[in-house]
Amino acid sequence: MTDLMFQDQIHDLVRTAYRRIPSGAGRAMAARLYTEDELALVPEAAVDWSLGVGNPVRHAGLARGEVVVDLGCGGGIDTVLAARQVGPTGRVVGVDMLETMCERTRAAVEEAGVADRCEVVQGEMEDLPLPDGCADVVVSNGVVNLSPRKSRALTEAARVLRPGGRFCVSDLTVDQELPPEVLSSGAAWAGCVAGALSEDVFRRKLARSGLEDVQMAQRIPFSLDDVALYPLFTTEVLELMRRLLPEDARDEIATSLIVHARRRRD
Ligand SMILES: C[S@@+](CC[C@H](N)C(=O)[O-])C[C@H]1O[C@@H](n2cnc3c(N)ncnc32)[C@H](O)[C@@H]1O
Repeated sequence: MTDLMFQDQIHDLVRTAYRRIPSGAGRAMAARLYTEDELALVPEAAVDWSLGVGNPVRHAGLARGEVVVDLGCGGGIDTVLAARQVGPTGRVVGVDMLETMCERTRAAVEEAGVADRCEVVQGEMEDLPLPDGCADVVVSNGVVNLSPRKSRALTEAARVLRPGGRFCVSDLTVDQELPPEVLSSGAAWAGCVAGALSEDVFRRKLARSGLEDVQMAQRIPFSLDDVALYPLFTTEVLELMRRLLPEDARDEIATSLIVHARRRRD
């Protein structure tokens, strides 16, 4: 897939797309991915800016006192939920490549009253500004598929985990061959579809990145109507997909899943 666009081009278009999102508009999808009780624990603005594809914190089995890294923290919904679970003796580090997203997460943890255990740093998941082995758990929600250098991003996630540390990530996989017009659409990349790996390739990349005990769970099909809920999809790309994809493919364009793995103990 990446051979249809250059890595720098992909990186720039993802950066531009996320910088330009005009308003949050994440509430409709958040209502499907999180329970009302979970959403009640999060400031309104973080729910509006929720742009994830799953609910990794629910599956991460976080314990009091643990150190969590949230890759691509965006508006901060998962950083806040993780911070509540690890409690005042734990720590959550949100990382996002965009300073505007970091500011949103900082505002969210402040409003939620969990800033005492949170730090938000600007940085790229392919080159994390964090020391080796600093985290018990890495979570992430709809971010790995955005990377033009996924093996590098996964190797970085493994590097910051302590040996035996947990990787619990929500992401989209795509197992069908999408038409080249969709694969080369900037909006489809930014919307987490064009850059998504197949489940098999994702597994192989995880195994080569120093992660083991890989399990993929909680598969939820995403239809064209589902992806249309994300503010990143333009009318043009939705129309393109309606026109080019057969009906059965439109019913399941991508699959949202939870990827569990552990950092190898060596
Ligand atoms: C689909 S949004 C998900 C945001 C958040 N995880 C959530 O669930 O609402 C993707 C986020 O990842 C960030 N991002 C994309 N590529 C990144 C990269 N290479 N390194 C760090 N952050 C990145 C974007 O700025 C954006 O905030």
